[in-house]
Amino acid sequence: MYYIKKILLLIVFLIPLSLMLYFGKETFYIEDQLTAGDPYDYHFVLITEEVGNDYWRLIEQGAKEAAAEHNIYLEYIGPKVTDNDERLATLDRMIAADVDGIITKGMNDEIFSQLVQKASNRGIPVATIDTDNEKSDRQFYIGTDNYHAGFLAGQTLIEQTTGEQKVAVIIGLATAQNQLERLNGFQEAIAASNRIELVDVAESNITELGAAQATYELLKVHSDITAFLGTSALDGIGIVQGIGEREPDERPYVIAFDILPETVEAIEKGNIDATVVQYPEEMGKRSVELMLKIHKNQTVNPIHYTDTGIVKASHIHNGELIAPIKEGERP
Ligand code: BGC
Repeated sequence: MYYIKKILLLIVFLIPLSLMLYFGKETFYIEDQLTAGDPYDYHFVLITEEVGNDYWRLIEQGAKEAAAEHNIYLEYIGPKVTDNDERLATLDRMIAADVDGIITKGMNDEIFSQLVQKASNRGIPVATIDTDNEKSDRQFYIGTDNYHAGFLAGQTLIEQTTGEQKVAVIIGLATAQNQLERLNGFQEAIAASNRIELVDVAESNITELGAAQATYELLKVHSDITAFLGTSALDGIGIVQGIGEREPDERPYVIAFDILPETVEAIEKGNIDATVVQYPEEMGKRSVELMLKIHKNQTVNPIHYTDTGIVKASHIHNGELIAPIKEGERP
């Protein structure tokens, strides 16, 4: 009797144990399949200025396309709203995470250069995109020649206006190197004409609302403003909004940056006169391809300028760009 009891107890114990082992094995088997080896060849990170910004989403799109083509895991991260400190902290975290490559908006900041140096010491290549910091140890820059883009804006203003012009410029951020380069290029271009005067510069904090408020304030202080330039992607539509709220007697001339759908629409409606084109998708795509070249020990030049050009109403029909806008040969 004693032995029968023992055998029964053993059976009661063995049944759940074998079931547990069987299903446990099945579970682990599936997990093994999922984690078996790293499915990607490299892990690159793209650090954006603002995660939800439509312009940066286009850079992300291009980068993800190239990443998918080359079996690369591309992580897209950054602050919700522009924040230099958070961007630096993210860069530091990615270095600590020992990723295979970092593509980031360049920052005009000593800590940025130190972090790029730190990454380089650890064998992590860093590239700048959209905005450079040529003094840092970054491997390459891909993006617009921002000085040239600003210069183009100035030339366009001269071409498209007559008579004396008092211009105000709305820049995204006064700490952003690309914004300062655009402003600089613009100033040099308008210096060639004695009928154009720069009366003020304000910041939008790269938001449409910021640009609208800055425009409203500028028109209040300088009621004689006849033209506006907005040097980041949402400034143009913000300027249009600010002008609408202030209702000056005559609509000022407006030149913007980028071809986000709202800007294209405003050009077609006649609220924006022209915009400087950038190619964010191409920047994203090529940044990943160039980073890959570094991993394959191929030579990569330090500067890769993407094209730029001007879009005016004649280039747009029913919300679509209809004419070639690449400037091609640049001076
Ligand atoms: C600039 C970016 C900026 C974006 C903001 C673009 O024109 O190239 O640096 O982050 O505007 O919307």
